[in-house]
This record gives sequence, C-alpha cells and structure tokens, in this order.
Amino acid sequence: MLVIAAVAERADNEHRVALTPSAVARFAKLGLRSVIEGGAGARGGFADVDYAQQGAEISSREEVLAKADILLAIRPPQIESVAGLRPGTKLIGGLAPYTDPGRLKGYAGLGIEAMALELLPRTTRAQAMDILSSQANLAGYHAVARAATALNRCLPMMTTAAGSIPAARAFIMGVGVAGLQAIATARRLGAVVSATDVRPEVREQIQSLGAKPVFEEVREGDEITKAAGGYAGEMSESYRQRQAALVSGHIANQDIVVTTALIPGRPAPRLISDAQIASMKPGSVIVDLAAENGGNVEGVVAGDMVERHGVLLIGLTDGASRLAVDASNLFARNCYNFIEAYWDKKEKVLSMPADDQLVEAVTLTRGGVVVHPRFAQMQAA
Ligand code: NAI
Repeated sequence: MLVIAAVAERADNEHRVALTPSAVARFAKLGLRSVIEGGAGARGGFADVDYAQQGAEISSREEVLAKADILLAIRPPQIESVAGLRPGTKLIGGLAPYTDPGRLKGYAGLGIEAMALELLPRTTRAQAMDILSSQANLAGYHAVARAATALNRCLPMMTTAAGSIPAARAFIMGVGVAGLQAIATARRLGAVVSATDVRPEVREQIQSLGAKPVFEEVREGDEITKAAGGYAGEMSESYRQRQAALVSGHIANQDIVVTTALIPGRPAPRLISDAQIASMKPGSVIVDLAAENGGNVEGVVAGDMVERHGVLLIGLTDGASRLAVDASNLFARNCYNFIEAYWDKKEKVLSMPADDQLVEAVTLTRGGVVVHPRFAQMQAA
C-alpha cells in the first residue's frame, strides 16, 4: 500500500500542515495509507488523535521519512531535514523553486522527485490543485482583517445618536486572487474600495465587486517582459512613472492600502514610495502581501510591523498560516486533487507520465538530476 506522509513544518511562524485529518480520510478511500509525524498538526489545530481517528499512523520524523512514498510539504524542506527519504520518493507541495537553486540540486542529490505545485499552469484542469490560489485567497482576506484591527477608525459608515461616522477608504493594488478577496472583504466590512492592476481585463472584475477601478492605461511597449498564463509582466520605466503619478494623487486619501502585486520569478514591483507614504494620514495602515518577495512598499519589513511617517506598514508573510485550519485543509485538498488525477483506481497505483502537461510543468528533479528546463538552465548558469 502506497504511503502518503507529512512531517511538521520547520519554518518559524508556519502553523499549517500539508496533510489534515479530512485528507487522510480521502486518501484512505483511494487506497493510500497515511503516516504523519506526531504533533505535526498541533499548531494548525489538528491533534494526533484526530489523525489516528481517520486511520493515520503517528510516527517519529525519521520513521515517517523512511516509510514515505509521497511526502507533502507546505514550504520547501531543507535538504538535511529530508535526507532520510528513499530515492524515488515524491516530494509534492510548495517548493518555492525560484528562491534557492542550491536546494533543487540537493533534492536531485537525494534522488527524489520534487514536484512544485506553484508551477501548475492556470488552466481549468489544474484549478482544483492550485495551491497559490487557495492560499492567496485566504491571505487576501486576512490582510484586510488585519488592517481593519490595526486602523484607528472603523470601516463602515455609521449613523449614531452622537453623530455619523464616514466609511473608511481602502485601496487594493494588484488584483489577482488575493486582491479580489481583499476587495470583497473590505466591501463586506463597509469600506469604500478602489483597486488597481496592470492587466486591463481586471477592470470589470473590480467593478463587479462594487469597487472603483483606478487604472493607468497600458500603451505599446509598456510591458517589457511578457508573461504567459494570465500573469503580469514587468513594466517599463515610463509606465512605472505614470502609474506612480496616478497613485500619488489617490493614496493620500486612503485609510487602508493592501498591496499584492507579484511577477512570477522576479522581485515584486515597487508600487509605493516613502514620499507617497508620507502623504497619507497618520494612523493609516498599509499591508504588503508581497513583502516576502521584496515588497511593493518602500521600507516594509517582511514578517514585521514598522511605522513610517505615522503610517503602519505591515509586511505580511503569514496571512494564510494564521488561518491554519482552513489553509491546511485547502492545501491538503489541492494535493489530494493532484494525486487523485493520476491515481489508477483499479490497480491502486500512481501513474504520472513524465510527458503529461501538468506533471511536466511541476517536476523539478527526477533520477538524480534537475529536469525542469527553466531550473536546469538556472543551475547551468
Ligand atoms: P500574482 O500573485 O502573480 O499577482 C497579483 C496581481 O498583481 C496580478 O493581478 C498582477 O497583474 C498584479 N501586478 C503585477 N505587477 C503589477 C504592477 N506593477 N502594478 C499593479 N499590479 C501588478 O497573480 P495571481 O493572483 O496568481 O493571478 C494571476 C492570474 O492567474 C490572474 O489572471 C488570475 O485570474 C489567473 N488565475 C487563473 C486560475 C485558473 O484559471 N486556474 C487560477 C488562479 C488565478
């Protein structure tokens, strides 16, 4: 019987776990046995007994690694922490392939098949397996919830006997999955919401959520790197200056700003300067969801909160982790959906053809080498 496994995440402030009790039950129905490190779910709100009740075996870290045929992970494990995996074992999950080429080499050296689910194409077929979407959605929600509690005023308009309070203003920069959820959450809390992006097609989505689009028109030659799959490319200096002028005129009146702009494989674009922060009212709050990738906001500190010109800058890196129950369940479900797609229900074996579109997109290492063309090239360079 094939063994699906997870160990406790090692990163500080990481509360999620890649295998949850409900996923154990689903895998069991397929015919896979689950083995999990004792205490691995504790920070996420899942006790060992919850796993055991669904039929999982609770083991030491060493034993889990030795038994695993498939190891699920939220964040990329360091080489030394998974050195006990057998060659041929699949490591599936969030492997942040752009961040550390040495780590990919290490996975290859272990002879394991590392599969980074963040490299799945944004297609209908892959939607249910998309860890970026499931986690970004929760992070977008959390960013607004966090900003709302840090702000020195309330979000909805209120009419009280003592007088009325105007609604707060929230501006969302970058309207992908996280940004859309941030708009929806800020609207639910009663703020007056506006939003911007570089992709013109997002304008209608912003309007359909009841927010105001604030857009700088994209002209010929503005996009200097073209990105495939619905992602944004890097923008020209001229576009950046025009966008900055537009934002300068808008940002001074905002109480909350949430930034989410990312460009795959590149540092996050800088969207807010120190001078723009200085133009905001003291007590306003900026939450930067791109802080881990270099930040959209000048002066932001990843994983920390700092004050600039009386404005609170929150470099949010653990938005999804703070909602560990929902985030872990959705992540585990994404992994389940990926595995289930290649599960031979009759023979009860996993059959992942190397030339399958999704398998090819996510496989980093196989047979002792880095096989993904993009990362093999980076290794060579
Ligand atoms: P992301 O996390 O890569 O980036 C967030 C947002 O920042 C994007 O909307 C991007 O256009 C924007 N951005 C980048 N540079 C910017 C700049 N200089 N100024 C302002 N905004 C900037 O994006 P995410 O959330 O991963 O979504 C990427 C695309 O994939 C979207 O089109 C989304 O609708 C699509 N998608 C498709 C799925 C599917 O069909 N299976 C699933 C999830 C997303």
